[in-house]
Amino acid sequence: MSDLSAALARCQVDVRRVHRWIHEPRSVALARAELRDALSAWGLSAAEDDAVVVLSELMTNAVVHARLSDERCIETVFCRGWGGVRMAVDDADERVPQLRDQDVEGGRGLAIVAELSDRWGVHPRRRLGKSVWAIVSAPGGRYL
Ligand SMILES: Nc1ncnc2c1ncn2[C@@H]1O[C@H](COP(=O)(O)OP(=O)(O)OP(=O)(O)O)[C@@H](O)[C@H]1O
Ligand SMILES: [Mg+2]
Repeated sequence: MSDLSAALARCQVDVRRVHRWIHEPRSVALARAELRDALSAWGLSAAEDDAVVVLSELMTNAVVHARLSDERCIETVFCRGWGGVRMAVDDADERVPQLRDQDVEGGRGLAIVAELSDRWGVHPRRRLGKSVWAIVSAPGGRYL
C-alpha cells in the first residue's frame, strides 16, 4: 500500500468513534474527554463548546433516566462531518426523551440540546432501546 493510500485509509477509519460506557455518573466526564479528543483530531475544535454541552446533557439523561440492567451499557457514536459532528447516545431503555416544561426541578436538558444543535432526534435501535442524536456545527460550518 502506498503512503497516500495508507494515509487515506487512516482518515476513513477515523470518521467514526464508538465508545461504551458503564451506567455511572463518571461516564459523563469520560465521554466528554473522548469527544474533545475526537474534535481536536478532526480539526473541529471550534464546535467543542456547544458539542460538549450537548453531549453532557444526552449522557446525563442516559445515566439518570434510562433504566438499564447492570450488564447493559451506554454507547456513544461520534461521526465527523465536514463542518460539524453528529453525536449519538444510545441506551437499552425503550422509553424516549420527552421535552418537558422547564421548572425548578429540571426539564432544561433537551431545550439546551435543541438550542445548541442544528438538529436532534431519537430513533429506535435495531435490537433494544433507542439512539438519541444531535448534530452540532462549528461556527460558519455545516455538518455534511
Ligand atoms: N435517555 C433517556 N431515557 C429515558 N427517558 C429520558 C431520557 N432522556 C430524557 N428522558 C426523559 O425526558 C425528560 C426530559 O429530559 P430533559 O433532559 O429535558 O430534562 P431532565 O433531565 O428531567 O432535567 P435537566 O436535564 O434539566 O436536569 C426527562 O425528564 C425524562 O423523563
Ligand atoms: Mg436532562
